[in-house]
Amino acid sequence: MGAFVARDEELRTTLAAVVARRGTAIVGPPGVGRTALLSAVARRLTTSRFEVVWTAATQASRQVPFGAFRSVLGACDRLDDHQAYGALHTELFRRAGARIPVLVIDDAHRLDDRGAALALGLAAEGVVRLMVAARSQSACPADPPVSDAVVALWKDGYLERLDLAAFGRVGTQQLIRSLAGGPVAQATVDCLHQWTGGNPLLLTELVRHARVSRHLVAEGGLWRWRGPLTVPPRLAELFDHELNRLSPADHDTLAAVALGEPLPLPSWKPSPPASPDASKTWRAKGCCTPSTGRGASSWCAWGSRCWAPPCVGACPAAATPTGRRTP
Ligand SMILES: Nc1ncnc2c1ncn2[C@@H]1O[C@H](COP(=O)(O)OP(=O)(O)OP(=O)(O)O)[C@@H](O)[C@H]1O
Ligand SMILES: [Mg+2]
Repeated sequence: MGAFVARDEELRTTLAAVVARRGTAIVGPPGVGRTALLSAVARRLTTSRFEVVWTAATQASRQVPFGAFRSVLGACDRLDDHQAYGALHTELFRRAGARIPVLVIDDAHRLDDRGAALALGLAAEGVVRLMVAARSQSACPADPPVSDAVVALWKDGYLERLDLAAFGRVGTQQLIRSLAGGPVAQATVDCLHQWTGGNPLLLTELVRHARVSRHLVAEGGLWRWRGPLTVPPRLAELFDHELNRLSPADHDTLAAVALGEPLPLPSWKPSPPASPDASKTWRAKGCCTPSTGRGASSWCAWGSRCWAPPCVGACPAAATPTGRRTP
């Protein structure tokens, strides 16, 4: 990873919550920089005082009881809740010795219920510091529900919740400057900010790809964007992964909307066998969103609360085979 930029305030409050209180829960939409912030805080915790143990939950670990803590506990799926809590507690303090144990749980929205209850138990006991990162549920309505115990971590006041937002123009400028290695023309900053919504993941992938493809060039001492805005292959792959969660019928409909959008509402008919109330379901899944920007109601593909920027809207269109684009 390159330099960590534009999060001074967030870094300060998060670090203070871990050093002086029970810890922090960093919540935000995909790609907003939760993992990067966790790492930045962990790097700043003095090793003579704190022992950091890093875990991350995944879709696969969610299928196994306490799956996210396997790296700490070893095979633990046969333990009962009490034994698992004791084993985790003992192992964290064994590793810490005379220091304070800090348990990092990245992607905690994917914790299984029993694993989440362990985290809540630790937060309530308050002797292990916790640093938790989770996707905000409201930003990702299509994701499986987050365990109640994860929500209770901040709702019941154990951890201090920090809502991480995308970069504004200043943060965008700092990130591009850091990735490009020099000052950037303001028009380029404005354009990339609009295209990515200030999302650090989108910005990082876009700028890295643009350096290689020479869409970002140094002219007169400033980095400037030259050429069309496109979707880097690595981002297209990432969104393919998200699109794979759709049924074939929904996939086809999304491709149609992506190629034709914005479509007037009356002309938008889900392809069979999509259900009659597919438009409602789609909105709930975050795949489409009604837009009234151009005088008439229309559907903008993938313009969701989850991944709102135009850059992402271009993904389904880019992923649709060219042959299907000709009438
Ligand atoms: N403050 C920052 N400074 C520099 N780079 C950053 C910053 N925040 C995020 N990034 C970069 O943006 C990209 C996405 O960040 P990160 O993986 O932390 O996001 P996330 O919210 O954890 O995403 P996900 O939803 O995939 O878990 C990474 O390449 C990361 O290095
Ligand atoms: Mg992450």
